[in-house]
Amino acid sequence: MDKRIDRIDRKIDKGRIKRKRSEDLETTQAVIDKRTAMILYDLINRGYLDSMKGVVASGKESNVYWATAEENGVTRNLAVKIYRTSTMDFKRIWVYIQGDPRFTKVKRDTRSIVYAWAEKEFKNLRLADEAGVRVPKPIVWRGNVLVMEFIGENGVSAPRLREAMVEDPEPVFKIVFDYVVKLYEKAELVHADLSEYNILYWDEPVIIDVSQGVLLSHHLALDFLARDLRNILRYFSSLGVEVPSLEEAYKKVTGEELVWRQESL
Ligand SMILES: Nc1ncnc2c1ncn2[C@@H]1O[C@H](COP(=O)(O)OP(=O)(O)OP(=O)(O)O)[C@@H](O)[C@H]1O
Ligand SMILES: [Mg+2]
Repeated sequence: MDKRIDRIDRKIDKGRIKRKRSEDLETTQAVIDKRTAMILYDLINRGYLDSMKGVVASGKESNVYWATAEENGVTRNLAVKIYRTSTMDFKRIWVYIQGDPRFTKVKRDTRSIVYAWAEKEFKNLRLADEAGVRVPKPIVWRGNVLVMEFIGENGVSAPRLREAMVEDPEPVFKIVFDYVVKLYEKAELVHADLSEYNILYWDEPVIIDVSQGVLLSHHLALDFLARDLRNILRYFSSLGVEVPSLEEAYKKVTGEELVWRQESL
């Protein structure tokens, strides 16, 4: 068994060597602990993954890898997001898990919380996808590992909206606003970290990074919604798009007047 894990490690290593930035090397090493390697091995064994190719992004709390899977002779590109159990800010993420009816039984040790966090992203992606919001298609979740559709090509991920140099931002604003409405109305979900950093642009805007997304029943859902809208309005207005006021936008989404409960957000 250990030999097989070694093999996955080597595959991951190979991808890693391609990267030049040394900070990536360090974070990659930190994220693939033995338990994570076992999960990857299991996913490979079950045919969800074929080969881990390399890191596409490494953040504070997760790394995203490019991976491939073979399906009837066709190679499919995948993104594998691996949450790091060692650096997760427990207090920060607990706010978004607490009170979520889907996660009432989560134990309060770090690993359980991180697993719940990955599960939450998986479930939120599925809800968003079903509501007609363009997100990476979720494929499988196991432990701290989430496998989803790769947005981009040949292992190069699509640019974030912030870097995408969209020629005509107005229709993009309309689409993103429509996504917020669909999330609210159909998925009963608020993204809660929506900004030009968590939207990729690949012919169309694609919403990513939904782990902190909360159901409307969360006690701060409407504050998070207002914050998301504020970010989006600010960004598109900086591109010269004529955007509604925050109050108008909030009313369009919810049908209610905006009342901040926690304006410090
Ligand atoms: N499905 C995907 N396809 C292609 N690239 C992706 C995908 N998901 C994430 N990425 C890449 O990984 C980066 C980080 O992903 P994400 O925002 O989900 O993670 P994060 O933990 O919030 O990281 P950060 O703290 O940097 O925001 C994205 O900006 C994007 O470049
Ligand atoms: Mg992000």
